[in-house]
Amino acid sequence: MALSAAKCPSSSSSAAAAAAAARLSLGHPSLRSSTLLRPFPNSARARRLPSRSFKNWNLSVVCKQEAGAVPVSSSAEETPSKNVENGGLFGLSSEEYGHAIGLDASERESTVSITVVGASGDLAKKKIFPALFALYYEDCLPKHFTIFGYARSKMTDAELRTMVSKTLTCRIDKRENCSEKMEQFLKRCFYHSGQYDSEENFAELDKKLKEHEGGRLPNRLFYLSIPPNIFIDVAKSASRSGSSKDGWTRVIVEKPFGQDSQSSAALTRGLKQYLEEDQIFRIDHYLGKELVENLSILRFSNLVFEPLWSRQYIRNVQLIFSEDFGTEGRGGYFDNYGIIRDIMQNHLLQILALFAMETPVSMDAEDIRNEKVKVLRSMKPLQLEDVVIGQYKSHTKGGVTYPGYTDDKTVPKGSLTPTFAAAALFIDNARWDGVPFLMKAGKALHTRRTEIRVQFRHVPGNLYKRSFGTDLDRATNELVIRVQPNEAIYLKINNKIPGLGMRLDRSNLNLLYASRYSKEIPDAYERLLLDAIEGERRLFIRSDELDAAWELFTPLLKELEERKIAPELYPYGSRGPVGAHYLAANYNVRWGDLSASETT
Ligand code: NDP
Ligand code: BG6
Repeated sequence: MALSAAKCPSSSSSAAAAAAAARLSLGHPSLRSSTLLRPFPNSARARRLPSRSFKNWNLSVVCKQEAGAVPVSSSAEETPSKNVENGGLFGLSSEEYGHAIGLDASERESTVSITVVGASGDLAKKKIFPALFALYYEDCLPKHFTIFGYARSKMTDAELRTMVSKTLTCRIDKRENCSEKMEQFLKRCFYHSGQYDSEENFAELDKKLKEHEGGRLPNRLFYLSIPPNIFIDVAKSASRSGSSKDGWTRVIVEKPFGQDSQSSAALTRGLKQYLEEDQIFRIDHYLGKELVENLSILRFSNLVFEPLWSRQYIRNVQLIFSEDFGTEGRGGYFDNYGIIRDIMQNHLLQILALFAMETPVSMDAEDIRNEKVKVLRSMKPLQLEDVVIGQYKSHTKGGVTYPGYTDDKTVPKGSLTPTFAAAALFIDNARWDGVPFLMKAGKALHTRRTEIRVQFRHVPGNLYKRSFGTDLDRATNELVIRVQPNEAIYLKINNKIPGLGMRLDRSNLNLLYASRYSKEIPDAYERLLLDAIEGERRLFIRSDELDAAWELFTPLLKELEERKIAPELYPYGSRGPVGAHYLAANYNVRWGDLSASETT
């Protein structure tokens, strides 16, 4: 089907595909039965198409290494503008082209144009272009594609390429031909300068896109890598003057999606004036992380876990995000949001929903999102007494002074914005009744780490309890899913220390990804970009999920802000405010990441 052609263009770059491509240019009738070159669905059809199943996804995600794909050819499709100059079929509009070779829209060869709006910015340079290059390098991009940068800054194509080339890396095992591939990739990158609210400027972009699309069925992806206050302007300009007429048009929107329920709803309403819900891909890059994606596999395909996944066996769940650097460089942005909106309301809550959901009917996007939204709607309202907030202050260590949050010139003096928060959340349903889900997120802490910790209940009538003394917590099993860095899944078990005596030890059954898998783990943005190109929505946030997430956090945020609650100060590089320990202790929980065996 079309989807696998997109996910794994390796198949279309095989010798058979090359032959099929030759037939296409001649309008060969056998093309009609070829599965190799089927186009992306057009916009109307794409809207009706169910998301592809997880099963298909698993198979089609295989790109270069596993499939032994041949690199994308450097022939005509890389320089379609040349063909325009030279006249011929490529000079026709997509409809004319299709008619000329006797195909209707559903049979024409397709192309994808990816426009990075805000291409001059930090995220585009740091994440989006490198992810696109990694996909290209792995032959995961469709055969025909073009990338356009769009922003107000004046830049030539060559300047964009120079800018982009500085952040591209040969991430994947430094395999052969990397610099060659980089050059080929950069040749497919172009730039157009324009205003975000100008339909005229987007019409100019449209003209350039058409030239590059070369008469093929055009599909267009716009990545809004810009501040949210201009999302709607861009959605309007892009939909009116830059969208595809007979292919699909999709828009990836970066967080933050509003600041509370009201602003988020206004943003959604604004976007929906110009886009259908299924054209909007709200990105939460944590959903694209390998171990977050693996959560469902771990739970639903392992008999040893699924039966334990409830209040009956699980004592508490901890979702921990910590960074060992402050808001350096992003203080201006951060001060308007704070850690609860920046990390908890989206990244950690999404993980919680995935973790706690009931078994979905299938792994299709709508089935999964239906289950996630049920979890979010079942959450108990968050109480102020179940939350601790903190802010880092300056600290000198080893002769180096680390700045406090308010030392940042872009942060207002006396700001009360939290850079740390811990919260106890509860899901009011039969599976999770009474189980604390503890979240902790902080900047400028002692370590960089994101993990999910599942602490199981004590073994009833444990025969060996004397060996553990009074501290039964030391004897409980704990499953740790370390999302980053050094991805790992490990299970803490009790074991006898070998020897003639009877001494017990707590040990780990340890799956360390770096030791088990030789393949490098792709960046989350790679997976998500590829999914957006394929129209796979499983890892993107639906508007009702977003509403439910804001409904949970908005009253708390309002109360914190209206009552001007002062955050507890903690030194840069420390383990965070002591209040977080008391919060956990209220529910008889100890933070697993701070236990003696875990601290680094
Ligand atoms: P930037 O602040 O770097 O903005 C991107 C581009 O948008 C700029 O290069 C600029 O381009 C244009 N721009 C900036 N401010 C304005 C303004 N007030 N009015 C009009 N245009 C403006 O953002 P980032 O690249 O850091 O982030 C992009 C989006 O991604 C944001 O929504 C951000 O919150 C989100 N995000 C960013 C992350 C990061 O690590 N950077 C992480 C997660 C999300 P020009 O002047 O050339 O038009
Ligand atoms: C972003 C937040 O969404 O995620 C940043 O806005 C944070 O504040 C970043 O640093 C963390 O992402 P990652 O992938 O580096 O863990």
